[in-house]
Formats: sequence, structure tokens, C-alpha cells
Amino acid sequence: MNILIIGSGGREHAIAWRLAKDAVHHTLFMAPGNAGTSAIATNLAIGAEDVAGIVAWARENRPDLVVVGPEAPLVKGVVDALAEVGIPAFGPCAAGARMEGSKQFAKDVMNAAGVPTGRAKVFTDPAAAKAALAEFGLPVVIKADGLAAGKGVVVAETTADAEAAIDDMLVANKFGAAGAEVLVEEFLDGEECSILAMTDGKEVVLLPSSQDHKRIFDGDKGPNTGGMGAYSPAPVVTDAMLPEIKERIIKPVVEELAKRGITYRGILYAGLMITPEGGKLAKSGSRVNVVEFNARFGDPETEAVLPRLDGDFATALLHAATGRLAQSDISVKPGSAATVIIASGGYPGAYEKGKVVAGLDAAAATGATVFHCGTKATPEGAIVTAGGRVFSVTGEGSTLREAVDAAYRAVDKIAFENSFCRRDIAHRAL
Ligand code: AMP
Ligand code: GLY
Repeated sequence: MNILIIGSGGREHAIAWRLAKDAVHHTLFMAPGNAGTSAIATNLAIGAEDVAGIVAWARENRPDLVVVGPEAPLVKGVVDALAEVGIPAFGPCAAGARMEGSKQFAKDVMNAAGVPTGRAKVFTDPAAAKAALAEFGLPVVIKADGLAAGKGVVVAETTADAEAAIDDMLVANKFGAAGAEVLVEEFLDGEECSILAMTDGKEVVLLPSSQDHKRIFDGDKGPNTGGMGAYSPAPVVTDAMLPEIKERIIKPVVEELAKRGITYRGILYAGLMITPEGGKLAKSGSRVNVVEFNARFGDPETEAVLPRLDGDFATALLHAATGRLAQSDISVKPGSAATVIIASGGYPGAYEKGKVVAGLDAAAATGATVFHCGTKATPEGAIVTAGGRVFSVTGEGSTLREAVDAAYRAVDKIAFENSFCRRDIAHRAL
């Protein structure tokens, strides 16, 4: 197949890499890709959010499939626009992408479908939001409704912190339109994990579970990031939970969306909170609750999950995009995978770019897989840093310990000025 992948991060490199592992050969294009993807695909000078540019290229070049990585083009309707010119695309239509783009919409769908999640109320008036805090207790979660680059959620331990978060969003407009509506939400106690579910709008196939590490420092300390590492499977999700997740969470959401006239195709990513035995149970009464939905593959979860998939990945994506998804298109390999992010010093705050990278061949020679997240090739052929998250390094093994060790063996070969990584990826499971 001829396949166009939209995006430029580690997730998109992993999608391209996994497609390149299919038994049949595919010709891959990236919009825009990065220095890593250029080894297996043709990078196009088209930005991931340039919907008009993407559609123009697709119309001219007629790819068999377009795979959308990030949420922004989904929310902008790239899948709808491609459908209009007859090109199948993996990812939800704009109406479906609202599951990620509007937390209020996602709550409404979950409540209508009876899906267990934190109780929440929506406010536009700061005084009314503050008056409601008492009924939620502490801690309490304050969320901007729209996309806020992962920064629109405050878990407030005190009423003063909750009120400050409400004022930031509703009075100071810190997140602009994304924060014009605010959710006050019940705090969910427990351990988080990610379930990526592939769906064609009817059938649902759960991909292996994973867990990411959102905080910058070891021990889950410091500010939130896009994700500093991931591993799969996540033992906090027991095999007994999987049918429940599929039947009580993913399928009811897909069915509720269908009732509303939305055929949801692509990945429905459920961020789940698993309350431990003896932990404080949510009002829903369930031990498994939805924290949020995303409308795409997770990053860096994808870099840990895709290496574990056997079967014809392109066929699975095409079948999901065209309403023909079957369980048999892909299967899961035994064993584990662990992904460590190498970041630029300073991330998630300000960081420098353009640092020359050494050791990539030595890292690859260890047998681990190095995905590029934020890199560029210079005209002289050197690889330089071009983002906060620079590499996603995935190790595999028959045990999680082996996978983690394999990842760090490769990580330790890669060097650039001020590089930084967490040293405790998968600590909860080890
Ligand atoms: P989100 O942007 O919705 O993924 O939220 C970011 C992070 O905030 C999540 O990964 C959780 O760690 C935390 N969070 C969000 N909602 C809740 C909740 N209801 N209870 C506890 N933690 C939450
Ligand atoms: N790893 C979290 C996300 O992709 O949103």
C-alpha cells in the first residue's frame, strides 16, 4: 500500500516503523516526519496541521490510506476532508475527535452511555464554580474544557488552589477559549493506565495495556510533560479487567456516538484510573474509571505498544478506517516492551535546540529501537535536536525487567549536550 502518515513525533516514527515491518512492502510518506522517519519513508514538506496541504497532496497522489497521529488535525477535520476526496483515513472525524477536544462532550457521552467516570459539573461563572467545590470535597480536579496542551488540569489539594485554578481559567483566561468552560470533577484515587482501543465504529479490538510517566523527574515528581516513558503491558490492568473495559467502557461509548450519528473510527484511547483494593472508591462504585479519552494513539505509549503487535498492521488500520475491522488482523506477542524518552535539558520549560547527537549507531547495535521525536538532519548529514522530547528508545524482552534494561543499554549510548532522561521507567511494575 501507499500510506501517508501525518505527524512528526516518536509516535509517528513508531507507526511508520511498524508498517515497515509488515510482511508485505508499503511505500510510506510522512507529513512532515523527522530525521528518523526519513530512513524508512519520504518526508513531505507539509505540516501536520496543514489540512488543505494534506488534502491537496492526497488528491494528487491517491494514497491507499492516511494515518493521522496527533489530535490537532483530527479536531480540524482532516479525516472528513479526506473522505470528501475519497481517501480512507485512520482516525475519527471531527465530530468524533470531540471526545478529546471537549471534556464536557466526553462526560456527556460517558454519562449517557453509563460509563464509570468521575462525577463532574460544568461552569462558565467563577462564583458558581467555587460555590460547588464544597460538594466535591478535597482533593478536587479543575479542568479546562478544551485542548490546553496537557496543562489544563489542576488536581487541587486545597480550596484556595481550586479557587485559583478556577480564576486562572474563567477570569484570567489563561487557556483562552479552551478554558471558557470549566469542569469541577471528583478526584479519582488510584493508579493510571492507558488502553488504546482500535475501532471501525462497530467492532472494537483492545491493544495491549500500557502506562506512561507524565512527570519530568524520577519518583513521579516535578511538572507534567507530554510523557517521559512508557511500558506495556501494565500489570495494574489485570486480564480479568479487559473484558470489562471493552464491554462497559469502550463499546458503550462507540455505540453512544453511533446513536448520535458519529461513526467513530480509529483509536479511542481511554486514560483509566484503577482504584486499588481498599482504596477510596469513586461515586460510580467501579474500581475502573475513565479519567479522559483521547482520539488518537498515545505518545509515548505507542512506542511501547506497537512493537508488541504481530500481524498485518496496515490491513488492520485500513479495515478500521473502512468499517471492516476484524479481531484476526493483529495479535499480541508475549513479553514486554519499555520506552524511555531522552529529552533536552530544561524541558518541559525552555530548552535549547540544535545540539549535535552522537551514538545513534551504537544504540541501534544494542538491538533496541530508537524512535526520533524531535530531530532534524543538517545539510552535512548530522542529526541535531529540534524538540523537547528528542528520542523514544524502546527495549523488548521476555520480562519487563529485560525490556527496561534493554532500553537503558541503548539510551546510555546516545549523547548530546544537556540530554536528560528518567531513570525509573516502569518503577511501579518492577
Ligand atoms: P488529563 O489532561 O485529563 O489527562 O489530566 C491530566 C492528569 O490529571 C491525568 O493524567 C491525571 O493524572 C490527573 N487527573 C485528571 N482527572 C483526574 C481525576 N478525576 N482524578 C485524579 N486525577 C485526575
Ligand atoms: N501519553 C499521553 C498522551 O498521549 O496523551
